[in-house]
Amino acid sequence: MLERSCYPEVAPPLEDSLQTLPSTRKIQIEVLEDAQMVGEAAASFVTKQVKAKPESVLLLPTGRTPLLMYFGLISRTNKGELDLSRVQTFNLDEFYGLAPKHPGSYHTYMHRVFFDYLPALPRKINLLDGSAIDVDKECAAYEAKIKTAGGIDLVVLGIGTNGHIGFNEPGSSFASRSRRVAIQPETRAANAFLFENCADNVPEAALTVGIATIMEARHVLLVATGSAKAQAVAAMLQGPITPDLPASFLQLHPDVTLLADREAASKLL
Ligand code: GLP
Repeated sequence: MLERSCYPEVAPPLEDSLQTLPSTRKIQIEVLEDAQMVGEAAASFVTKQVKAKPESVLLLPTGRTPLLMYFGLISRTNKGELDLSRVQTFNLDEFYGLAPKHPGSYHTYMHRVFFDYLPALPRKINLLDGSAIDVDKECAAYEAKIKTAGGIDLVVLGIGTNGHIGFNEPGSSFASRSRRVAIQPETRAANAFLFENCADNVPEAALTVGIATIMEARHVLLVATGSAKAQAVAAMLQGPITPDLPASFLQLHPDVTLLADREAASKLL
């Protein structure tokens, strides 16, 4: 199975016991009026992190939700309020089989929406190489690079309608690390905007950091906007902790902030 190509998965008994753990309910929730405000708040959150630690190691998302955050970070940088030149960035994931320069790759996305607008690039930009011949080696090297960088200070996450984070689709293990995974049809459809709005053109597999990689980050920021995310957001916060909804693992992280607009928060009790 693609899912198991890089690292051994956790033994089943732990997975089973996780499902019965009570939620720590430590997630800080901020509900804002609209997507614009979520983007602004997310940019402020990242800015605060970088001001407190200019050499921060950031693990960054793609998708449509973080676009306004990137816009806010660019605008703060242009106003001289933020200096990203000492940070190191990693990205959560990349499409399998796509070279960095492919127009649909997350490499291209990151440059097109963020890096190309910065007056000074981050000290180091790291992304998984979807075109790597030896995927296991690429994934292991990525994990090693994160370790060498001192670990992730802040991970910013979006959430899929099925509760995926990064490309950790339902079924992902709590102990999962960077690896190749299959992308589910609804996730391929959500990424069609990068492939001339044609879901069939979206690769069927990706490389992603794992749940364990995300859980080791010191701080987690999750951004969610729009009614399509309401179900996943409610389940992530109020449902059981289960591999069926990978974002629910975040209930076990001690420092998570959720920024949601009214629509994404509409199913919270
Ligand atoms: C992709 C990314 C995820 C992201 C998700 C949501 O699948 N791999 O990291 O969270 O899209 O995207 P959007 O923000 O467009 O809903």
